[in-house]
Amino acid sequence: MIKDFNFYTPTRVVFGREAESKIGALVVAAGGKKVLIHYGGGSARRSGLLDVVRRQLQEAGVAWCELGGVVPNPLLSRVREGIDLCRREGVDFILAVGGGSVIDSSKAIGYGVPYHGDVWDFWDGKAVPAQCLPIGAVLTIPAAGSEMSSSCVITNDDGLLKRGVNSDLCRCRFAVMNPERTFTLPPYQTAAGATDIMMHTMERYFTKYEDMNLTDAISEALLRTVRDSALVVMQHPEDYRHRAQIMWASSLAHNDLTECGCEKDFATHKLEHELSALFGVTHGAGLAALWPSWARYVKKKHLSRFVQFAVNVMGITNDFAHPDETAERGICAIEQFYRKIGMPTSIHELLGRDITDEEIDVLVDKCSRGGSIKIGAMELLDAQAMRSIYKMAR
Ligand code: NZQ
Ligand code: ZN
Repeated sequence: MIKDFNFYTPTRVVFGREAESKIGALVVAAGGKKVLIHYGGGSARRSGLLDVVRRQLQEAGVAWCELGGVVPNPLLSRVREGIDLCRREGVDFILAVGGGSVIDSSKAIGYGVPYHGDVWDFWDGKAVPAQCLPIGAVLTIPAAGSEMSSSCVITNDDGLLKRGVNSDLCRCRFAVMNPERTFTLPPYQTAAGATDIMMHTMERYFTKYEDMNLTDAISEALLRTVRDSALVVMQHPEDYRHRAQIMWASSLAHNDLTECGCEKDFATHKLEHELSALFGVTHGAGLAALWPSWARYVKKKHLSRFVQFAVNVMGITNDFAHPDETAERGICAIEQFYRKIGMPTSIHELLGRDITDEEIDVLVDKCSRGGSIKIGAMELLDAQAMRSIYKMAR
């Protein structure tokens, strides 16, 4: 069966070595008159990108103010600071200069400025966003795909709750992507980014809807490309061609293209968000630590899909008499890939220590909201299933 779909991708992508020279014109075209430049912990300053952005706005005659200091797994406290600043300064456009964390922090500020209640209401399920300030992104790390996604993931520092909200209102007006800007990424971030990109497609590829061959073919090509290019850039960080493939894949993996005709699962993401909320780990690394266990937990009921992945993506020879073995070899192959790029394949490797039963209880309780919700789509997981997967991954 092919699932009905409604595909909406309003983000203009300006891609290439000269992409940053368009920033001023893009902001003006989007109607920005007073801009908040929002950025992270320092990479954009060190690389000179912030100066380029400032110059672009100055030459375009656009006023701005700035707020830096966004941390990976961005915090609600910084979002609140940004909302206050935007209101004080009369900001009408937010320019995110960084990765998923900065873009998500910008989206949350965008929701908060026109809203009269507490911005966390949107993540708490007490309100649905009705407006968002327009946002543009200057992407520095291909990973989260937030530059084209409808998603905004924020951690509430009070209680370490990491939650996502989805709405088309926050989709970026434009995304400026210069692959050269990613040359400075530390290897761990490069690897975690590639893992996250692949996972955004895998979370859609593993589906009950198995008839959309075109989407499958796009997904498989994307997965093979990111895997192969990741192996190259780990050795050659300044390889433009392969950095470019990964950067473009980051957007395509999470702009819903690979969901057309199938369905989002995202159980591994939900399990991971609790890990990164509690332990502050890098999102992509957390996904690598969990996915093989999720796969082994659900694969029996969905063998044909896992065989297809093993053969078409991981290049495993199909052992027609033993589909279970073919599927397992596909999972082993991706674990081998994770090891090659320095990603963990267990929670122990992720944290550098054993996780306790009590900590697993906390993760399960938060992920299942006290046992009240299930996660996933290809396979619905209740609290007991979540506990089993965390234990398998430990
Ligand atoms: O803060 P700075 O100094 O910029 O350093 C960052 C940060 O430490 C560094 N970095 C970024 N670009 C760089 C660079 N270092 C050197 N050179 C560059 N060019 O990389 C580190 C990680 O940055 P971050 O923005 O946190 O990475 P990512 O893009 O992986 O974003 C992760 C966040 O996005 C969420 C994750 O949960 C996590 O909170 N996600 C958001 C999604 C969405 N909105 O659609 C979907 C994803 O599944 C994900 O959940
Ligand atoms: Zn992700």
